[in-house]
Amino acid sequence: MCGIVGAIRQGEPVLSALVEGLRVLEYRGYDSAGIAVHTGQEILVRKKQGRLANLEGILEDGALAGASAGIGHTRWATHGAPSDLNAHPHMAGGGALAMVHNGIIENHQSLRQELAAKGIKFVSQTDSEVLGHLIAEELTAAPDEPLAALRAALARVEGYYAVALLLDTDTGPAILCARQGPPLVVAQGPGGTYLGSDLLALLPHSSDVVFLEDGDMGILTAGGYALFDAAGNSVERVPEAIDWDPKEANKGPWPHHMLKEIHEQPDVLARTVFDRMDEEAGDVILPGLEDDALRQVERIQVVACGTALHAGLVTRYAIEELARVPVDVDFASEFRYRGPVLAKNTLALALTQSGETADTLAATRLCQKLGARVLAICNVQGASQVREADAAILTHAGPEIGVASTKAFTAQVAAGILFAIRLGRAKGNLSVERARELLQGMRGLRSQMEQLLTQSKCEEMRSVARRHAAAKGFLFIGRGINYPIALEGALKLKEISYVHAEGYAAGEMKHGPIALIDPGMTIVCVNAQSPLADKMRSNVEQVQARGGVVLSVGSDQATHDLARDVCPVPTALEILSPLLNVIPLQLFSYYIAEQRGCDIDKPRNLAKSVTVE
Ligand code: AGP
Repeated sequence: MCGIVGAIRQGEPVLSALVEGLRVLEYRGYDSAGIAVHTGQEILVRKKQGRLANLEGILEDGALAGASAGIGHTRWATHGAPSDLNAHPHMAGGGALAMVHNGIIENHQSLRQELAAKGIKFVSQTDSEVLGHLIAEELTAAPDEPLAALRAALARVEGYYAVALLLDTDTGPAILCARQGPPLVVAQGPGGTYLGSDLLALLPHSSDVVFLEDGDMGILTAGGYALFDAAGNSVERVPEAIDWDPKEANKGPWPHHMLKEIHEQPDVLARTVFDRMDEEAGDVILPGLEDDALRQVERIQVVACGTALHAGLVTRYAIEELARVPVDVDFASEFRYRGPVLAKNTLALALTQSGETADTLAATRLCQKLGARVLAICNVQGASQVREADAAILTHAGPEIGVASTKAFTAQVAAGILFAIRLGRAKGNLSVERARELLQGMRGLRSQMEQLLTQSKCEEMRSVARRHAAAKGFLFIGRGINYPIALEGALKLKEISYVHAEGYAAGEMKHGPIALIDPGMTIVCVNAQSPLADKMRSNVEQVQARGGVVLSVGSDQATHDLARDVCPVPTALEILSPLLNVIPLQLFSYYIAEQRGCDIDKPRNLAKSVTVE
């Protein structure tokens, strides 16, 4: 989704910081990019449809090179097609200000009509340009009070926004910003003051960052920033120290971030799990989730989107088995609009890598309104979902840049299983011995994951993918706790290879999807050694009998014996098997996408973090 950067320095040029900031944000998905700078005399804008390289091409004239204040934007089109004119920044007030915006202005049509009637000429089809002109109107009325003008304009807006303005004040160029919904972060670095919609854009300048709260506004100058709350009162927000190394966001020698992130999973698992295990006590240490807080939990409501929802589904199986607490799982986008009913003592569990997914945030706000406490499993310290939750388990996956989530998924599943163990112990439904067995199993997973990621294993997976790349469709089937892994395998393949793939509960095959089977279809069968293994084998036999081509992924040798292609996975406790089975599926998707020449890290039409509906 759209990205914002801003930089203002004392007499030092900001152009390269802005371009580098936009480069960091590329992973979020975008279709045009632009920059505005204040040269000291005037505001200049350059913007271009397509990749950042196109924008860099038109920066070569050097006109923006010496400016020491500027803002930049990567746009993911919502209102108006991707084009040079619809790209941000938008100019308004006859060159008095440049503005970038993330979010949606819902009443843009009526505001546009009103402004057009006053003679304002629009050059783009965007809702954002409307906001720019609205601010400029207010600024004309109160030229010495830019913050008041911004506040007055925003008061007329319905919708949500992270907005940054570049303009002149009586003390020189400044950047104004405001947040209602999409994130904004500010930081003071050694040479200046910086703004970003994603903390990764700020980390090269400072690891101490301030997340604006909803309703906050701010003014950035080269000497620092001042923040104001929704009521207009000056506020001090304590900077958070972020422990991510900005280098982690580089892909280094790897051809793609996704492949790098798949290979990071053994370490991610260790970082997310090992320090939290108390094997001797047969328990898990999760601050804020001690016995008193958990004993009263009678139901769990999981809300999440996409891959995070699949991690939530795995967590459901683990919680119901280990803690014997009933769990409902819903797409956050459905939950928020269906007038949900929450039973007394329900704990809402939000899983989200970014912590900024609009639907998940809206769903948990609704849960809180309905009286539930919220637990977040999230990968980003300081993210909205973490700040709004009553408790949080941070996953330690590090920055995930590939749009297709891999390491964040395994971290979410691992955190979900840790939570299930903790809840089981708190509720008295899980014995010390069983908890110890699970924790030992988790400790062993790191090396089991490594076995799946050796060069020869990856090469084998690449050959398997080549053999199946021309299939006309893919059906992923699984049972029990590996059913969500079938869903996840299909989602990964769709996302990055653009081929049709469906995930299904294997037992549902005969109720419809079996009609799809013919020799052109690949059926990926996700299995584990479990009481359901026999049933899975008969599903495979049914598929083979109809000419379907089976790829068996898992640890059940008897299923492998039936299949055309196999990907053996080390044996683990059934409850932990999703953490291993998903890895070959990630590699399978990756190599099929490679074979098809797809843009693996930035798949078409997708954004990394979906901060609007
Ligand atoms: C996964 O590969 C996705 N691109 C997507 O489904 C993602 O998991 C979903 O948008 C939720 O994101 P979140 O974890 O940041 O909330």
